[in-house]
Amino acid sequence: MLPRCIKQNSKFIFSRGSGSWVYTNRNRPLLDLTSGIGVLSLGHRHPRICNTLCTQILNSGLHFQIFNGTIPQYPIVCELLNKKTPKNIDTFVFSPSGSEAVDNAIKIARQYTKRKKILSIRKGFHGRTIGVAALSDNHKWKKNMGPFLGDCSISNDITKIDNDVAAIIIESTQGEGGVITLSNSFMQQLRYNTRRNGSLLITDEIQCGINRTGSFFDFEYSNIIPDIILAGKGLAGGIPIGCVMSSKEIFNNSPPGSIGGTFACNPLQIVAALETLKIMEEERIKFNVITKSQYFRFELNELKKRFSCIKKIRGRGFMIGVEMDKEVEPLLLLCYEQGLLVLPTGNKYVIRMLPSLNIEYDELNKALDMFQAALVKFENTTQYI
Ligand SMILES: Cc1ncc(COP(=O)(O)O)c(C=O)c1O
Repeated sequence: MLPRCIKQNSKFIFSRGSGSWVYTNRNRPLLDLTSGIGVLSLGHRHPRICNTLCTQILNSGLHFQIFNGTIPQYPIVCELLNKKTPKNIDTFVFSPSGSEAVDNAIKIARQYTKRKKILSIRKGFHGRTIGVAALSDNHKWKKNMGPFLGDCSISNDITKIDNDVAAIIIESTQGEGGVITLSNSFMQQLRYNTRRNGSLLITDEIQCGINRTGSFFDFEYSNIIPDIILAGKGLAGGIPIGCVMSSKEIFNNSPPGSIGGTFACNPLQIVAALETLKIMEEERIKFNVITKSQYFRFELNELKKRFSCIKKIRGRGFMIGVEMDKEVEPLLLLCYEQGLLVLPTGNKYVIRMLPSLNIEYDELNKALDMFQAALVKFENTTQYI
C-alpha cells in the first residue's frame, strides 16, 4: 500500500498503454487525457521510441556515467535543441527530473550573478524537492516541512526585482496553479525589469514546453528571450528527464562537478529525447497541436454554452484548464466512471487536460462525449461554493 503522502485519485491498476489509451488489469480501456501529466507527448508505447530504447539497451548499454564519457547521440540531441532555442541558448544539461533541473538553474543563476535572491510568482509550481518547494505558494505541500531554501520570495509585484535578485523563475502558462497563461505585457515587463537590474529570467517550460501549447516553447508567444529555459516531462516521450538550457557564458561560472549526478545526461533519456524530437519534426506535431487543439477547444466552448457549471476554458494548445463553478473532485470521479482520465490542479475548481500531442480527432470526439456524460451528472451534484 502506498502511504497517504502519495496522492492517488483512483486505484486503477494498469496493465498496458497504447497511443492515447491505457488498459486496466481487467482490460478496461481508459482514454488518457493526462499523458502521465504531460510526459507521454507522443502517446503510450510509441513504436519508434520503444524501438530506440530497446536498441540502446540491447546493443549499447543501460548506463554510462557522464563522469567517464557520453554517447554519440548527446551532441546530436543538443544540436536539435539548439535549432529550437534562441541564439543566446546553446548549452544543454540533462537531469533525471524537472525538480533537479530547477535546482540546477538556481545554482547556475546564483554562481553567475554572485547574488542570492530568487523570486517566483504566485500560483507557480516548480517541483517537490526541498530545494524548489520554496518557490511555490501552495501551502498544502509545504506544511511542517521547513525551513526551506533561503532568500526566496514569491510575489507578482515585478517592481520588486532589484539589484539583489539573481533570478526570477516563471511558467508562462502555469499548470499546477490552475492552467493560467501569463499576459504578454506581464512577461515583457518582467524581461525589461530583469535586464535593467542584471537579474536572470528563467522560464520553466517543464509542463508547457516542447510543443504542448502549439509552439516549441510557450514563452515564444510573448516575444521575450529568457536567459535560462527549463524543460522536462514531454521532452523524452516517457523517460524521466529534466533539462537546463542556457548560454556557455552562464554555465561556465559553475565549477566542474557543481552540476551533475549519477543519472545526469544518462543514455536512455538522451536517446529517447533525440527520437522524440525527430518524430515531432517529421510528424509536424506542432501543427497537429495547433489544429486539433483549436477544434477541441471550440467543442469545449460549445459545451460551456450548454453547461452552466463550466465557467471558463483556459490555457493554450493542448494545455487545457476547465474552470468549474464548484469543486471538481466529483467530476474527476465521474470522468473515471465514463472511462476518461483527466487531472485536477492545485486550484480546486479546475480540471486539467493534457492529451498526447498526436491524439486523433475520433479520440477527441470520444473524450468530448465522455466529458459531456460526466457533466450531465456533475450538474446535478449539489456541492456549490
Ligand atoms: C512547471 C513544472 N516545473 C517543475 C516540475 C517538476 O518536475 P518533476 O516532477 O519532473 O520533478 C513540474 C512537475 O509537475 C512542473 O509542472
